[in-house]
Amino acid sequence: MFTASTRDPFIGCADDQERHCAPPTHRPRLGFLGVGWIGRHRLQAIAASGVAEVATLFDAAPEGLAQAQALAPRAEVAESLDALLAAELDGIVIATPSALHAMQAEAALSRGLAVFCQKPLARDADETARVVRAAERADRLLAVDFSYRHTEAMRQIRALVDDGSIGRIYAVDLVFHNAYGPDKPWFRDVQRSGGGCVIDLGIHLVDLALWTLGFPAVQAVSSRLYAQGVPLGPRPQVVEDYAVAQFGVAGGATVRLACSWNLAAGRDAVIEAVFHGTRGGAAMRNVRGSFLDFEAERFDGTRSTVLAAPPDDWGGRAAVQWARQLASGAGYDPAVARVMQVAEVLDAIYGR
Ligand SMILES: NC(=O)c1ccc[n+]([C@@H]2O[C@H](COP(=O)([O-])OP(=O)(O)OC[C@H]3O[C@@H](n4cnc5c(N)ncnc54)[C@H](O)[C@@H]3O)[C@@H](O)[C@H]2O)c1
Repeated sequence: MFTASTRDPFIGCADDQERHCAPPTHRPRLGFLGVGWIGRHRLQAIAASGVAEVATLFDAAPEGLAQAQALAPRAEVAESLDALLAAELDGIVIATPSALHAMQAEAALSRGLAVFCQKPLARDADETARVVRAAERADRLLAVDFSYRHTEAMRQIRALVDDGSIGRIYAVDLVFHNAYGPDKPWFRDVQRSGGGCVIDLGIHLVDLALWTLGFPAVQAVSSRLYAQGVPLGPRPQVVEDYAVAQFGVAGGATVRLACSWNLAAGRDAVIEAVFHGTRGGAAMRNVRGSFLDFEAERFDGTRSTVLAAPPDDWGGRAAVQWARQLASGAGYDPAVARVMQVAEVLDAIYGR
């Protein structure tokens, strides 16, 4: 079911553009679809980079729009999704409730617009494949906001794994516990969110493990999902708030992950990705329960060396990277197809 693939050659365009990105050929005009919490954050990051123009905004609710207009006073406001897609744009940034992403991304791509979409790109692997195919067909740049890849901590760890200095990775342990859980009701409605903590948080863990290991083929996914302490069966129709999962990858490594909402974690959040290799280890961890501050360490026997520490302004990097690629004239980037493997693992975790 899961295909082996070669290592993603494209990392860190935003901060390493000399090496990876062609020079900008124009300043793309962007539309922002969904300007709630994360939509406004990514809007600010792109605006601050100066790479693209924040041209048009659309949101179904007035509150977010008013706040976004304050951030981008020169942007026009579209009356509908159709009006947004008909505006003269080069691309759109999607940050609406998760179950809408695939339909909205496909609509934009089929109109010839590039798309930067929040995770998850879609609710399952079939929907994900449809969006990726739409991007390929239209030859338009599609990227997904796997934002944690862009923390300095994970960049350092991936470099360490890549250069072989901690040996062959044989075990990966990842956790993402959000002790508050999401504060918007749509996250807890499976029709609007597509699922609970796995599609919200676990998706980042699956992506981080596979991205760091170079997207090896995945085997033997097992999982257990819970809602308020009660185990759920396959294809749950309610959102899970605790999940554990395990899978193997080609080359022999075992990946174990756990994620949750509203866990009594003793702090705001616990976010970790630990890689055990035959010659050493490395770990990325959030600092003092923070959602934003991360450190990375390398382990050699009982010795540890700091690889990265706060401050690190990582949240908007994926968005700015996409905008830079767009500004340099990039069309479809095959690297996005990796998202299908992540979606397949999530399907298996959900028992689909
Ligand atoms: N990449 C990350 O690390 C990361 C972090 C947080 C959130 N996210 C993702 O971002 C997305 C948004 O999350 P959020 O916390 O900003 O949610 P939010 O509820 O704050 O924002 C969603 C916005 O979409 C608008 N909206 C709803 N239906 C719409 C429609 N049909 N058309 C246009 N606008 C519509 C809402 O009015 C709201 O302003 C989610 O998919 C979430 O998973 C990703």
